[in-house]
Amino acid sequence: MNTSGRETTGLDQLNMGITFIGCGAAIAPQSLSNEELGKLVETSDEWIQTRTGIKERTLCPPGHSLASLAAQAGEKAIAMAGLVPTDLDLILLATSTPDDLFGTAPQVQGLLGATRAVAFDLTAACSGFVFAVITAAQFMRTGLYRRVLVIGGDILSRWVDWSDRTTCVLFGDGAGAVVLEANPTQDQLLAFDLYTDGTLNSALNLSFQGERRSLLADKAISQGTYQPITMNGREIYRFAVAKVPEVIEKVLFQANLPVTAIDWLILHQANQRIMEAVADRLGIPQTKIVSHLDKYGNTSAASIPLALDAAVRSGQIRPGDLIATAGFGAGLSWGSALFRWGG
Ligand code: ACO
Repeated sequence: MNTSGRETTGLDQLNMGITFIGCGAAIAPQSLSNEELGKLVETSDEWIQTRTGIKERTLCPPGHSLASLAAQAGEKAIAMAGLVPTDLDLILLATSTPDDLFGTAPQVQGLLGATRAVAFDLTAACSGFVFAVITAAQFMRTGLYRRVLVIGGDILSRWVDWSDRTTCVLFGDGAGAVVLEANPTQDQLLAFDLYTDGTLNSALNLSFQGERRSLLADKAISQGTYQPITMNGREIYRFAVAKVPEVIEKVLFQANLPVTAIDWLILHQANQRIMEAVADRLGIPQTKIVSHLDKYGNTSAASIPLALDAAVRSGQIRPGDLIATAGFGAGLSWGSALFRWGG
């Protein structure tokens, strides 16, 4: 045993398989329709639905924390997996909207009572969930951690400029989670690929802006806060429809599978037109797209696990189904994971 009480693992454990054994979701409790948004900014239900596919978005009221939303999603995923919180070795929280910049995952660990788990945040905007699943997988392949809770959660409504019609119509709040388990005889994570292009960083930001503050005659620092989201929508759109099909083709190539093997396409839920254009470019029938964008809007790191959870619980996704996911967004970042559902 090592000092953390986990069983020491040896090189013989390298290349453990990874199975997906539970999922969960927490939906923010209030819903804001396109018509209601029309009272805040110059827009219309028709414009928003035609350009994005969104009809309403879910939002957190004051007093709701990201930690409690993430813990709710985590609890449901742990229950579906047939585990208890003390079975977890690691909790990864993918978020860009922490309650505490020092990290929100520790609060989630505390709320869940997952006393054995190490917990930390990971930020990769709307690619965060895919990046977190792949990060978790690296700890598991080596046999170091056996059971991991990966949560994607965001309360972007905190950082939206509610007077900017080019962004405020898009975003919603929520959290979704999966439980992964290392398995020596079965591997459901077939392939992945992750990317960053920092030269396009200015296309989508939620940036810190500070003002000079003098401490002493010859010493100054900068203090301030984060500024509301700014986005070049057309650039992000072009980037997404170019890069997402490419990265999905790459994971299929790695797994030596044809595009026809994909049962479900679960893309980051940013825009229905992006999802349809990606499916078209890959030659995937629209009926294989899992989408909940109309009800929740773009919930950033939560969008993929929220879509997965709804499709699993409704019986649409069944054990053994092959799922191609892809996240994309600020960074700019993008990535895909190809896996079989096993819960
Ligand atoms: N209501 C009415 N009119 C609007 C609105 C609105 N809410 N927003 C913009 N318009 C107007 C514009 O002012 C423009 O008018 P103009 O022609 O007179 O200048 C016109 O509509 C067209 O604007 P475009 O920006 O060209 O509209 P487009 O068809 O590109 O749709 C959208 C905009 C929906 C934002 C689209 O570009 C998009 O979805 N981009 C991708 C965004 C995305 O995926 N983000 C994901 C990452 S999120 C993350 O990582 C946190």
